[in-house]
Amino acid sequence: MSEKATLSLDGKEYELPVIVGTENEKAVDISKLRAETGYITYDDGYGNTGSCISSITYIDGENGILRYRGIDIAEIAEKSDFIETAYLIIYGRFPTREERQEFNHLIVEHELLHESMRNQFQGFPFHAHPMAVLSAMINSMSCFHPQLLEIDDESKFIQATARLLSKVRTIAAFSYKHSVGQPLIYPTSNRSYTENFLHMMFSAPNTDYEPDPDVVRAMDLMFILHADHEQNCSTSTVRMVGSSKANLFTSVAAGVSALWGRLHGGANQAVLEMLMGIHERGESIPQVLAKAKDKNSDFRLMGFGHRVYKNFDPRARIIKDACDKVLYKLGKKDPLLGIAKDLAEAALEDEYFVERKLYPNVDFYSGIIMRAIGIPINMFTVMFAIGRMPGWIANWKETQDNPKGRIYRPRQIYNGPAKRSYEQAKTPFLD
Ligand code: SDX
Repeated sequence: MSEKATLSLDGKEYELPVIVGTENEKAVDISKLRAETGYITYDDGYGNTGSCISSITYIDGENGILRYRGIDIAEIAEKSDFIETAYLIIYGRFPTREERQEFNHLIVEHELLHESMRNQFQGFPFHAHPMAVLSAMINSMSCFHPQLLEIDDESKFIQATARLLSKVRTIAAFSYKHSVGQPLIYPTSNRSYTENFLHMMFSAPNTDYEPDPDVVRAMDLMFILHADHEQNCSTSTVRMVGSSKANLFTSVAAGVSALWGRLHGGANQAVLEMLMGIHERGESIPQVLAKAKDKNSDFRLMGFGHRVYKNFDPRARIIKDACDKVLYKLGKKDPLLGIAKDLAEAALEDEYFVERKLYPNVDFYSGIIMRAIGIPINMFTVMFAIGRMPGWIANWKETQDNPKGRIYRPRQIYNGPAKRSYEQAKTPFLD
């Protein structure tokens, strides 16, 4: 017998269906609430509102669980690679050997940019933030691939998907090279996905950068850990834009813009800047925590807290362990890692953080690894975007494949001026 919720309004009782998910999570279906009662619901920031039913990723925030298509993130991080993970997230299953070969072939086939796209980099100022460049260049893919604006069959979808997954690396690396005034380095077809990205970032016409395999693995791991995360701000943005039947490229470009914010993907850059500031100013851990708790200060402990996780972000655990290995392998010591660990240890014993269930999130340690690899701080959120690409693509596809798919159009409660005439509104301002 399907469960029901009963709502009592204005002396009447209404029965609302209850939707139960795979992991027994429950939702009251209010799809017909306004038609039946005249009421809407209000949920600032959507903390209690499900925007869709999705089969891609599952998070249990109370228990620190994250699964891509039912598989635990720790198992995927240990056993998979980014391109296989991308295929799993996008298609809901692993590829056969032939499908993996074909997917790899498509990624290689589409790793270059159209030379006119390449030339667009000359138009950006050197100091342009790479997230602005990334959003602009991904959107411009709509100009260069007009045959993929209407995706009405699977072959077009995989063509658009391969282009996005492959070219996002090239765009990212080209934006970095342009920003430092170095020649753009093209990908080569004999390198793996992530190795090719590092090659484009750090090789030069006179030197071939041959990354340590452990560095490639660490970067690939970062991409895996960022690959999808339910209806976060940027993914919800991709779905919102895609719900209007806007094309995949422009929907993803909107997701890049949403990710840039410092409360979301921009937090990894903000964490490093916070740690560097603490180090440079010689601030003590108690001083930093006091600032984070001071309601009169706009300082927040960046990389801490999460809308869904009220326990450890499983990705933060994995990255923290990887930090030690990568720094050891590279023979590097980073005082910022020690500060991060001391901050986390102190915060996790501090009443303010414990009471609010604030734990380290994916961004808290990720910058340490990227800094050790040599990724510039202002490129950290771009790394997040490369990793999140499969999740954005998969969520966009879910909006397109939903036979009942409707345009996303939330309601509101109006609290502006009551009805008045033009003269009434203008009178106080007549000189
Ligand atoms: C990502 O959604 C996703 O899945 C995102 C993501 C993904 O993979 O896509 O996981 C990636 O964006 C991770 C989050 C990165 N952002 C940061 O690290 C920025 C710092 N964190 C916070 O700004 C905050 O915790 C958020 C934005 C992450 C969550 O914000 P919420 O859920 O709206 O929580 P809130 O701002 O209402 O905070 C609740 C309380 C408040 O105190 P009170 O008003 O109850 O007294 O906790 C406090 C906040 O002041 N608080 C913090 C804090 N985070 C929350 N206080 C100090 N430092 C912090 N970091």
